[in-house]
Amino acid sequence: MDFTVRATVMQTPTRGTFTTLEDARIRVVDGTIVAISNTGEADVTLPPDHVLVPGFIDLHIHAPQWPQLGTGYDLPLSEWLFEHTFPLEARFDDLPFAQQTWEDMVPALLAHGTTTAVYYGSIHTPATTALAEACIHHGQRAWVGRAAMDHPEGTPEWYRDDDADTALAATRESIAQIGALDDPHNLVHPIITPRFIPACTDELLTGLGALAAETGIIVQTHCSEDDWEHHHVIERTGQRDTDALDSFGLLRPSTVLGHGVHLNAEDFATIRDRGAGVAHCPLSNVYFGNAVFPAAQALDAGVHVGLGTDVAGGPSASVLANAARAVDSSRMLEDGVDASASPAERGVQGSRIDAFTAFWLATMGGGSVLDEPLGLIEEGRRFDAVAVSLAELAPSTAGYTPERRFEQLVRLAGRREITDVWVDGRQVIGDL
Ligand code: GUN
Ligand code: FE
Repeated sequence: MDFTVRATVMQTPTRGTFTTLEDARIRVVDGTIVAISNTGEADVTLPPDHVLVPGFIDLHIHAPQWPQLGTGYDLPLSEWLFEHTFPLEARFDDLPFAQQTWEDMVPALLAHGTTTAVYYGSIHTPATTALAEACIHHGQRAWVGRAAMDHPEGTPEWYRDDDADTALAATRESIAQIGALDDPHNLVHPIITPRFIPACTDELLTGLGALAAETGIIVQTHCSEDDWEHHHVIERTGQRDTDALDSFGLLRPSTVLGHGVHLNAEDFATIRDRGAGVAHCPLSNVYFGNAVFPAAQALDAGVHVGLGTDVAGGPSASVLANAARAVDSSRMLEDGVDASASPAERGVQGSRIDAFTAFWLATMGGGSVLDEPLGLIEEGRRFDAVAVSLAELAPSTAGYTPERRFEQLVRLAGRREITDVWVDGRQVIGDL
C-alpha cells in the first residue's frame, strides 16, 4: 500500500532541537517513509491548523493495571503492589475479563497517540497472548511480556509462578504463542520480563538472562525505582540493582529499565556500555520514586532514555502528559523543593530539560532504547505519526512562531487534540 500525506511536520531530530517542515508531502510505501518533498500531489491532506508529529513511544506500561488507572496512590510501592496491584493482576486468569480490558485499553492508547507500547502483562500466558492479538487487531506496534515472578517473599502465594522452572517454561510458551500469531506487518514482538529483582529468585533471573542470550529477545524490568527496592536489592545481592541485573545477564542491548530514579554515575556508565536504556516515568515517580529521575544527567552520560507512563503507577496514559511532567519535574529537581533550605543547597544543578528534549524523549528517545527506526518523520523510518489540532491551543491571531506553537503542543495537547493516528502506514484513528 502506498500513499502521500500532505502536512506541516513538527519534530525533534536531536536532543533539544526542533524542526518544522512546512507543507510537506510525505510518501509512504508499505509503511516506510520513502520520500519527503515540498511539491506534488497528495492522497491525504491534513486540515488547516493541524500538524503532523511522530508517534509516541510508551516504553513502560502495565497492561493489567489499566482498570485501576488514577486510583490507589496512598501507599508506598511495596504495599501498593500487594494491596492494590497484585489482586487486580491476579484477575487476568479470567481470559474474557482480560480480552475486554484489552479491547478498552488498546484503542484508548492509540487515541492518545501511543503508536508503540512496551507492555508488561500478568503472569497469565493466555491473557498475555490475547494482549498481543489485540495490538495486532487494532494496529498498535508493541512489545508484549508475560511477567515472570516466583519469589516466595516478594510475591503473594496467590499470585506467583510456582517456581523458577515453571516461570521459565511459561515465558518460553508465551514467546512461542506470540511468535505464532498471524501478524503480517510484524507489529508485535515478545519481551522477556522478570518483574523486578524482589519478585524473582536468583534461579529465575539467571534463567531469563540465559534465555535472552539464547534467543536475542530483548528484556524489560524495573531498576532502582524507589528507596525500598533499591536498598532491598543491595541487601539481598550485595550489589547495586544495575550490577545485579548485569550479573544475571539481563543488562543487554535494548534492555528497558523502568524508572532508574536512584541510579548513580557508575550505574549510568554500565547501562550505557551494555546498550541498555531507561524508561523515565515522571508521573509514577511522583508517587513511588521518592525522588526525581535525573534525566539530563543520564543523557549527558550517554544513556539511552525514553518515556513511560507506568500505567497504573502513573495516573495518566498519555505519553505527551508525561513529557510535559518530565519538564516540570526536572525543574523541581534543579531548583529543589524545600524553601527552608538555602537556594544554593536546595536543588541539583544541570537537571533541567526543556519541552523539545521531553518530546524527543517521547519519540526518538524511545526509538533509541529499542534500536528501531521510529521517532522521526524521515526517509527510511516507519510511518508512525499523529495529527494534532492546534486550533484551540491558542488563537491564530496570536501570530506565534512554530517553536511556541510546538511548546503549546507538548504542554497542552491531549487526546481531544489528537485527530488522526497512523502506525506503520496504516491509519488507526480518524478517517482522512
Ligand atoms: N515494581 C514491580 N512491579 C511494579 C509495578 O507493577 N509497577 C511499578 N511502578 N513498579 C513495580
Ligand atoms: Fe512499572
